[in-house]
Amino acid sequence: MDNVPEQDNITILGLESSCDDTAAAVLRQTGDGPAEILASIVKGQNDLHAAFGGVVPEIAARAHAEKLDICVEDALKESGIALSDIDAIAVTAGPGLIGGVMSGVMCAKGLAAGLGVPLIGVNHLAGHALTTRLTDQVAYPYLMLLVSGGHCQFLIVRGSDDFTRLGGTIDDAPGEAFDKTARLLGLPQPGGPSVEKAAKSGDPKRFTFPRPLMDRPGCDLSFSGLKTALLRARDALVSEQGGLSEQDRNDLCASFQAAVVDVLGKKTARAIVSYLEEAPAVPLLAVAGGVAANSAIRANLESVCASNGLAFTAPPLSLCTDNAAMIAYAGIERYKAGQRDDMRLAARPRWPLDKTAPALLGSGKKGAKA
Ligand code: KG4
Ligand code: ZN
Repeated sequence: MDNVPEQDNITILGLESSCDDTAAAVLRQTGDGPAEILASIVKGQNDLHAAFGGVVPEIAARAHAEKLDICVEDALKESGIALSDIDAIAVTAGPGLIGGVMSGVMCAKGLAAGLGVPLIGVNHLAGHALTTRLTDQVAYPYLMLLVSGGHCQFLIVRGSDDFTRLGGTIDDAPGEAFDKTARLLGLPQPGGPSVEKAAKSGDPKRFTFPRPLMDRPGCDLSFSGLKTALLRARDALVSEQGGLSEQDRNDLCASFQAAVVDVLGKKTARAIVSYLEEAPAVPLLAVAGGVAANSAIRANLESVCASNGLAFTAPPLSLCTDNAAMIAYAGIERYKAGQRDDMRLAARPRWPLDKTAPALLGSGKKGAKA
């Protein structure tokens, strides 16, 4: 990656295709002012994968290759920006499902070469982690909890390329656990919103589900045992009663969600202790990823922050789930730091943000956990 002098104003096109959302966005930043999202187009693939109970990498890659051009065209049209006004192309170069990431990287290379503008490879996780700077212009260092269908990790974010991972899931991501729970109970996908809705009418104390790894020091998390416990509770009810009532479903959802809320809250409290050792001027926890949309999880995290003297921020839902605005924004930060890639930019299935941390185990239905 070459270093070149920074430029004050920038209009950037971002591309995202690492999982099952194809996205393009146009952002503009003038001087040091807030970056403005001129357009953010996201085309999902839920219908294509619905019959398979998870994302099928080959189908996803083909769909990305078909939809990227359309997303770019739509983003340009909506933003009113001509291709010739684009100063740089940012693209997710990993981690993710490799066929999808390659589709995006090839498209970005073609655009950058054709336009003669810089190409900037962005780590998808950095996109999520920097979203809070796009939405709230927060100062470094802040604490980030990234919770999605593919990822779960605590990060101290010190700069656009400077992350320390304090811990993460050793197996499933919380979003996967929500999705699996929904499947086990016959609720629609994606599971998060349907489980949250059912939980609102349920009793969170009816079932006592495990809180894994609570007795282990540190911030690592585990969710696979929780889903197994839910399966056992469901099967026990079915064999006792011959089926599940709506109340049973609601109670199972509420008890499951209570366990996730509890585990995330307690591990966040531990992560906060490590983060505060850095003596940040404005202590702040930001969340990102689709699971950050859950209001019970948010409310608990907010109260954990309040009792530890931290501010709390969560991006709007459209910027929590996968999108290209976050990739374009991370691209702006890299661009302004003088970082550029070239035609050698490679698509990476795994790409840990913290280069010194050991690889997290597991690779979920949404790809590698980095
Ligand atoms: O960030 P995202 O769009 O995709 C990646 O995984 O990268 O997150 C999607 C995940 C899904 O597993 C979905 O079930 C979960 O976020 N999710 C939720 C909620 N809304 C979406 N989980 C819990 N509660 C919600 N309200
Ligand atoms: Zn994501």
